[in-house]
Amino acid sequence: MAVGIFDSGLGGLTVLDAVAKRLPDVPLVYLGDSASAPYGVRTPDDIYDLTTKATQRLFDAGCDLVILACNTASAAALRRMQEGWVPEGKRVLGVFVPLIEALTERQWGDNSPPREVNAKHVALFATPATVSSRAFQRELAFRAIGVDVEAQACGGVVDAIEDGDMILAEALVRSHVDALQRKMPEPDAAILGCTHYPLMEAQFQAALGDKVKVFSQANLVAESLADYLDRRPQMIGPGTVSGFLTTGDPDQVSSRATQFLRRQITFEAA
Ligand code: DGL
Repeated sequence: MAVGIFDSGLGGLTVLDAVAKRLPDVPLVYLGDSASAPYGVRTPDDIYDLTTKATQRLFDAGCDLVILACNTASAAALRRMQEGWVPEGKRVLGVFVPLIEALTERQWGDNSPPREVNAKHVALFATPATVSSRAFQRELAFRAIGVDVEAQACGGVVDAIEDGDMILAEALVRSHVDALQRKMPEPDAAILGCTHYPLMEAQFQAALGDKVKVFSQANLVAESLADYLDRRPQMIGPGTVSGFLTTGDPDQVSSRATQFLRRQITFEAA
């Protein structure tokens, strides 16, 4: 019984942590493709190739269900994977839909026609690949009408976080918020559309001000996964052992992950 959680690097640990708290009895296998991160500056074909390879590795580890905790992979590869790659009996889910369901005040899995919602001016902070995919706007348009979205590609933030340079990450967050506010002076909601950004949530909130509601994914994804597994318990696969896999250097990745989550995390080579 194991569920796979995939990210391009360390950012998906924010999702893993929330899922582990919400579903403490479900074994989780995490795979971070740190050797290939950042994905956010890669082409859609490249992101698709890397994401399918990593997902296959999680299937091989006994997972029948894999969560693409990476927004960039969800935006650039998920639809293509679901349309022609995911093998019979396996499932791959992304992280956009739970976020958009929360933003549009829907129950998980409510597929009724689009309607007016409270949020009218939404700021999206994401990687360059996620912004150029327009996947967020597409999923939003299925569920809401009359929402103005301004997207800000936050170049450099993921690299700074992966390198552990939080001073640079904070400076970049301030400058990306500033750039967004020049295009949309008064957003009423902001989406942190990258798994790494919850690690900078306080800095985003401070730069945006108290009036802006900041939506961060980790808890939303955990709640929606709990609901999904309630309805489809058979999707918890045959694996019984939790673990952390990386394509990067296990020692280096373990020490950075331990620093992020403030508990001992030990990665093995994928
Ligand atoms: N974790 C990815 C995401 O959520 C971004 C990191 C990257 O660029 O690799 O979009």
